[in-house]
Amino acid sequence: MMKIMIVGSGGREHALAWKAAQSELASEVLVAPGNPGTAREPRVRNLAVDAADIEGLVQAAQREQVALTIVGPEGPLVAGIVDRFTKAGLACLGPTAAAARLEGSKSYAKDFLVRHGIPTARHASFTDLDAALDYLRQHPGPQVVKADGLASGKGVVVADDETAASAAVRLMLGGAFGEAGRRIVIEERLSGPEASFIVLACGRDYLAFPTSEDHKRLNDGDQGPNTGGMGAFSPASAVDARLEALIRERIIEPTLQGLWDDGHDYRGFLYAGLMLTAEGPKVLEFNCRFGDPETQPIMMRLESDLIALAQAALAGDLTGLQLAIDPRPALCAILAAHGYPGTPREGDEITGLDRDEPEVKVFHAGTQEVCGRILSRGGRVLGITSRGSTLEEARTRVYRRMASLGLAGAHYRRDIGRRSQGGA
Ligand code: AMP
Ligand code: GLY
Repeated sequence: MMKIMIVGSGGREHALAWKAAQSELASEVLVAPGNPGTAREPRVRNLAVDAADIEGLVQAAQREQVALTIVGPEGPLVAGIVDRFTKAGLACLGPTAAAARLEGSKSYAKDFLVRHGIPTARHASFTDLDAALDYLRQHPGPQVVKADGLASGKGVVVADDETAASAAVRLMLGGAFGEAGRRIVIEERLSGPEASFIVLACGRDYLAFPTSEDHKRLNDGDQGPNTGGMGAFSPASAVDARLEALIRERIIEPTLQGLWDDGHDYRGFLYAGLMLTAEGPKVLEFNCRFGDPETQPIMMRLESDLIALAQAALAGDLTGLQLAIDPRPALCAILAAHGYPGTPREGDEITGLDRDEPEVKVFHAGTQEVCGRILSRGGRVLGITSRGSTLEEARTRVYRRMASLGLAGAHYRRDIGRRSQGGA
């Protein structure tokens, strides 16, 4: 039995902590800093240390004698939490800062993909405004403009024409995204359904989690701006066994081989965001962590012991391990605060939380507890997640539970689980 620490405070971390606490290997799960949802889980305790405070996390892990740490968000991974923990003799699952650049810099990721012959959209990178605008003039037609650095899923503009693309270029290179937007990537706009393919990597070896699909746009029918994700379901409707084999062969395996050839023994979660184009699957992005909200439905379907898996990957040996997955689909819809994804309003009371329903789990994300009341604290407030014998049954359960929750000014998408039309 050992103490586990989960780093982060969102819905993904609530789902990871909930799953970790079910492990027979875990005596207690600490979440730094966690949220009111994790605070209420049996065998889970919050630690008042921010996810960005790497030194504070090292000290907490030492003081609490944590045997294994799992990092939820990309920020600490890109900032080198794994390198720092390893130096202190602590076990921390995730890539080193050098390998986490796959997520931390889109231009680095694109160069990696091109260098290793992995299918992705054609692209060019820029720091100079005139050069970027010139490129747009020479490449008329739909383009996608991306801030190079971390932008919480919001640094991507899918532009219909040159006017929209150049406005995005001006905005980003003009400083709207700070340091993250000082360099931009402009890439050809692809179309097709999207899928998230997440693996637990261990050098060149890996175990694939079930496929999932995220709904990134704010509004129903995939309209409105990109967000961190308004809902997700698993398995992805557009990925059959043949396509999954193709994704493994053309994308996951060459990526792990490429990382290895570049000198990275990647041990942790690796997320490939894919567009399933007519020419085959192509990489839109890599994340060096689990997806949020994909984690919520995937953890609900995962029957294997998460801690045993993490331990094996950290030890460098996945031999003989397989993932046991509940065949039933699962779905998560996000309840977002008024104003999300712009400036979300905080401090509204959430009602209807004290109700348990079979096969439904309300994961907390942006919540806070003030004098015994649960209030909103961030953009994505809750992730209502359920499992069903069909996706439709899971949807019905999720939306029935959603209707019993109250949060002034909140909004949510009503079409999570309806297959995305893709691309637009
Ligand atoms: P990213 O953060 O790079 O995954 O981009 C966020 C979202 O923007 C993706 O999930 C897609 O919906 C969209 N997107 C990104 N790149 C492209 C592309 N090349 N073509 C069309 N849509 C894209
Ligand atoms: N849901 C997309 C992400 O976690 O990046």
